[in-house]
Amino acid sequence: MSHPLVAPDEVVSDDEARARFFREYHDPRHAIMDWRLGYSVVKRLMCPLTNRTVLDYGCGNGRFSRLLRDRGAHVIGVDISSQAIDEARRKHAERINYYLINSGDLSQVPLRAIDVAVSTFVLCCVKERADLDRILKAIYERIKAGGTYVLSEPHPDAPGRDFYSMRRVPKDVLKEGTPLDVQFQDGSGLVLHDFWHSRETYLDALRSAGFIIEHVIEPTMNTYPDEPYWKDERHYPPFIIFRARK
Ligand SMILES: C[S@@+](CC[C@H](N)C(=O)[O-])C[C@H]1O[C@@H](n2cnc3c(N)ncnc32)[C@H](O)[C@@H]1O
Repeated sequence: MSHPLVAPDEVVSDDEARARFFREYHDPRHAIMDWRLGYSVVKRLMCPLTNRTVLDYGCGNGRFSRLLRDRGAHVIGVDISSQAIDEARRKHAERINYYLINSGDLSQVPLRAIDVAVSTFVLCCVKERADLDRILKAIYERIKAGGTYVLSEPHPDAPGRDFYSMRRVPKDVLKEGTPLDVQFQDGSGLVLHDFWHSRETYLDALRSAGFIIEHVIEPTMNTYPDEPYWKDERHYPPFIIFRARK
């Protein structure tokens, strides 16, 4: 990579760093890892999608919302970042309704209107357990009885692991809400920030909101022995994915 996305001493907001990440960071193997161990698993757990009403909570620039729309879903995407929502609205937003929201405020989405809700790498941006609870309760209330929620998050055991494209480095002793630097290994100096939550916290927060946990999936690259470049992701899952039912 020829120039740094975010120089180490450059002060940028987390929103701006994330927007730059989605705009400028294109490492094909990172994309393969994201897709294989994250989004493709999430998508499979959300099926069927055709004609289902889907809520993408924390949709960012809409990259996953668009994929869900292209698989036949009616998508509502919400996010607290105006930059992300503006960008999502500019990119092929046909048949997707995007809303800028305050954290946990889904008042623009009718109660019990959603067949399938999803959040990909969103709750790791939320520090406090009380905020996690408020968000999950709001999502639960929007899902129809028997509907599904799929949540994917960085794996709680990932900090310190040396993955091919990134490392998650705790800034303190690991406990609930500890900030982490997410460092990318391409020499770009790109660092994103999020917060650590344990597996028990995710499970307990989902159950406290009313969800029944159906699956917990922790995919690794151990089924791709012919791709020697993978590092710790061969044996340790970078992501953890939960499927829950209302
Ligand atoms: C790592 S990005 C992931 C975006 C998208 N889900 C994806 O997979 O491409 C995290 C997103 O969550 C949003 N976010 C962070 N905290 C949130 C909150 N409390 N409520 C809703 N969205 C939030 C951020 O603005 C950002 O767009």
